[in-house]
Amino acid sequence: MTTTIKVRENGSLLVEGEDVKLVDWTGAEYVVPKKPFSLCRCGQSQQKPFCDGAHKTCGFVGSEGAPGPKASPPAPPEGTVL
Ligand code: FES
Repeated sequence: MTTTIKVRENGSLLVEGEDVKLVDWTGAEYVVPKKPFSLCRCGQSQQKPFCDGAHKTCGFVGSEGAPGPKASPPAPPEGTVL
């Protein structure tokens, strides 16, 4: 099964797929409580990197849709060394 990461409107990143491993910057694996699972996108979760629903009460707005396959990727922030 393909792993899909769905950007939810004004909410989390929903990760769907059975063959998914979530690791930190050292490669250590998180215990995923259930599948599918959601990752915090608002920064307010008390259970990062997982979503705990805090986005519903913190006023998080994130409703950018995908621009489509022909759109260029966003430019890196000014001063970024590639
Ligand atoms: S996106 Fe749900 S708590 Fe941050």
